[in-house]
Amino acid sequence: MTQGSPIEATLIPGDGIGPEIMAATTKVLTLLGAPFVWDVQQGGMAGITAGGDPLPEATLASIRRTKLALKGPLTTPVGGGFRSVNVRLRETFGLYANVRPVRSIAPDGRYDNIDIVLVRENLEGLYVAFEHYIPIGGDAHAVAISSGVNTRAGSRRISEYAFDYAARNGRKKVTIVHKANVLKALTGIFLETAQQVAAEYEGRVASDDRIVDACAMQLVLNPWQFDVIVTTNLFGDILSDEMAGLVGGLGFAPGANIGTDAAIFEAVHGSAPDIAGKGIANPVAVMLAAGLMLEHVGRVDLAQKLRAAIDAAIKVDGARTRDMGGTASTEDFAAAVGKRVG
Ligand code: NAI
Ligand code: MG
Repeated sequence: MTQGSPIEATLIPGDGIGPEIMAATTKVLTLLGAPFVWDVQQGGMAGITAGGDPLPEATLASIRRTKLALKGPLTTPVGGGFRSVNVRLRETFGLYANVRPVRSIAPDGRYDNIDIVLVRENLEGLYVAFEHYIPIGGDAHAVAISSGVNTRAGSRRISEYAFDYAARNGRKKVTIVHKANVLKALTGIFLETAQQVAAEYEGRVASDDRIVDACAMQLVLNPWQFDVIVTTNLFGDILSDEMAGLVGGLGFAPGANIGTDAAIFEAVHGSAPDIAGKGIANPVAVMLAAGLMLEHVGRVDLAQKLRAAIDAAIKVDGARTRDMGGTASTEDFAAAVGKRVG
């Protein structure tokens, strides 16, 4: 059923519920005729057990070769001095864009017909964490100072990604979110650069801008006015969680980390140790992440088919895992989606 040439991609099953929801997802992808051929590699606790490193060299080498990965949630080891796997991946592969789409699918969601994609700058801004304290008198932490860093090149790269994403995926408008009225340099450079990119897309993708606090309010009052949002690191972190809340929470939130040297797709949620091994986890977020991966390789058609199948399985066939108020197991749910994509 696969059309076009096969595409090799790295698959990291991950920890906790990871192996269960990843197996459910790859099964559906096969039925869908997705072009991926998986190179399975370890990460997280599974990587530590196998070779003492939560991000083994073999896994990095695989991603370096395939430039494409679907990653299960990784349990962060407590103690032991391990650096965050996500930070290492971000640095190693220059993952500058964090793409987080939200769509209403959850039954009984408070908001229907939401369909917004947030594109967050992932390497700059206040999250560079150039921080220090200035001692005064006996108080070593009397003053805390943090410097944000936004570059014109970084602002252009994320803006071009957002406008190009909009154009490629049939989106109508990109909203530039900033705080340039107060942080005139730090977020002014972002607004100015994003507006230059917007001008280059005039006639193809519309554009407007919002101040971040107003945007946060409007996301609750009238989220339907938004299509694609592009913003800096801290604002994107906050607004993307707000947006996930509009559509029923993390069980429905996929994320893509796009870089110069690779693209890594994952669910936003973690390894859910409380329900691991029980076969009851909701695989929707990982399935939607696989949908983003299909879009990334140019198979918007298959991504749309996958999303429609997930919708129909939930809304028409009534397949619902426990977190959606149903009784379906992970496998039952995957079978229901599988029937719809076949
Ligand atoms: P979590 O997202 O794993 O779980 C929070 C709650 O949501 C739990 O009650 C869990 O059962 C539920 N939940 C999460 N995903 C679900 C799903 N697909 N279906 C049904 N219920 C689901 O967050 P928590 O407990 O804070 O973290 C657990 C571990 O995961 C930690 O080691 C953390 O560091 C790691 N983590 C990893 C991430 C990644 O690799 N991208 C992201 C977030 C956390
Ligand atoms: Mg966050």
